[in-house]
Amino acid sequence: MERFDAVVIGAGAAGLFCASVAGQLGVKVLLLDHSERIAEKIRISGGGRCNFTNRDLDPRAPHKHFLGENPNFCRSALSRYTATDFIDLVRRHGIAFHEKHKGQLFGDRSSEDFIRMLIAECDAGGVTRWQPCRVAAVRHGAEGYELDTDRGPVRAPRVVIATGGLSIPKIGATDFGYRIARQFGVRIIEPRPALVPLTFEGEDWAPYSGLAGLSLPVRIATGAKKAAMAFDEDLLFTHRGLSGPAVLQISSYWQPGTPIRIDLAPGAQLPSALQQAKGRSRKLLANELAAWVPARLADAWVQRDPAWQRPVNEAADKALASLAEALANWELVPSGSEGYRKAEVTAGGVDTRELSSQTLESRQPGLYFIGEVVDVTGWLGGYNFQWAWSSGWACGQAL
Ligand code: FDA
Repeated sequence: MERFDAVVIGAGAAGLFCASVAGQLGVKVLLLDHSERIAEKIRISGGGRCNFTNRDLDPRAPHKHFLGENPNFCRSALSRYTATDFIDLVRRHGIAFHEKHKGQLFGDRSSEDFIRMLIAECDAGGVTRWQPCRVAAVRHGAEGYELDTDRGPVRAPRVVIATGGLSIPKIGATDFGYRIARQFGVRIIEPRPALVPLTFEGEDWAPYSGLAGLSLPVRIATGAKKAAMAFDEDLLFTHRGLSGPAVLQISSYWQPGTPIRIDLAPGAQLPSALQQAKGRSRKLLANELAAWVPARLADAWVQRDPAWQRPVNEAADKALASLAEALANWELVPSGSEGYRKAEVTAGGVDTRELSSQTLESRQPGLYFIGEVVDVTGWLGGYNFQWAWSSGWACGQAL
């Protein structure tokens, strides 16, 4: 029977970092993962460049960029290990990076740089790594935790669950974390796909399916108008529905059966602009519209109403007003989402009321949950990785 001070299950962003922090504090750590290739999500993240954190993250107000039953739960970890702390680590490893937009930091070269950095940090802490290695069972007894693994039984007083969420099963996501939580009576909030493209019924979507590939800046919102969540981001039309940063962001807040609202020409003042065009132009309305939205969209859009399929100087005032309103307030009810196959993250997870915000230890003594398996979900833009680093650090300090 091999003995360790702590076993970290899941060598993704949170697990690798947690193991390295604890190892460097002198803790004898075993880090294991069932996949041959660890940290696959880091590898594919940020289009292969890893959007590793966000400069705009305000740890004093995490509810601005995180959701969950208690969005302020992450305040402690995020303020003790900040974006700046991680940026300093990245600098110490000589990894060049740049800011894209809205505070998002990406590596200049490749996500592999970050994986190498995390492995080097684990090596510096003398972390034992086993992969691929499956865990068949976790038991708790008088001598702490006993794990049955592919490489034999292991004993440790502390176990950290860092197995992530359910998104992208083809690269190793499993429900292991939720199963362990249930086994030890730790409650979970029902998981659901988040940061995910939204889909529409075939017939409803037919008029727009020809727009697949088209991208444009929009304002998107969902929820009751007074308390709506809104984002100014790019929208992407797909064959089955809508994607792009705007839709990924709003998907985390969208409730099935409810509408999303899209302003396709934000800031354009269309009602007055179309009236002015009427006074000076004989072009088709679709051609006039192309000044404010992409021409392909303008062409498809006017097909929705015969009153819009005429020269702007011949269009009725009412038709111009309804066209402006329809573009500024496109309300549509998604039939669903692309699900875990395409979701960047899983919302829900281990209920934060079951965890210490300081150490991430659960009510079950010696059992910790970090990273995406916890009911803490960040916006698109590096927030989810920062939660992985911060929760991994807070837990690593406590092991
Ligand atoms: P993560 O999923 O990273 O790691 C879990 C590990 O546990 C994996 O190595 C897995 O193999 C292992 N595991 C699972 N089940 C197991 C079992 N039963 N036994 C043993 N091991 C098991 N975020 C961000 O901030 N910036 C970005 O640029 C992106 N980009 C991005 C792109 C895409 C396509 C996706 C899918 C996701 C992102 N994300 C992101 C989200 C980000 O990748 C995610 O939030 C973190 O990786 C979560 O870190 P964790 O360590 O919690 O889980």
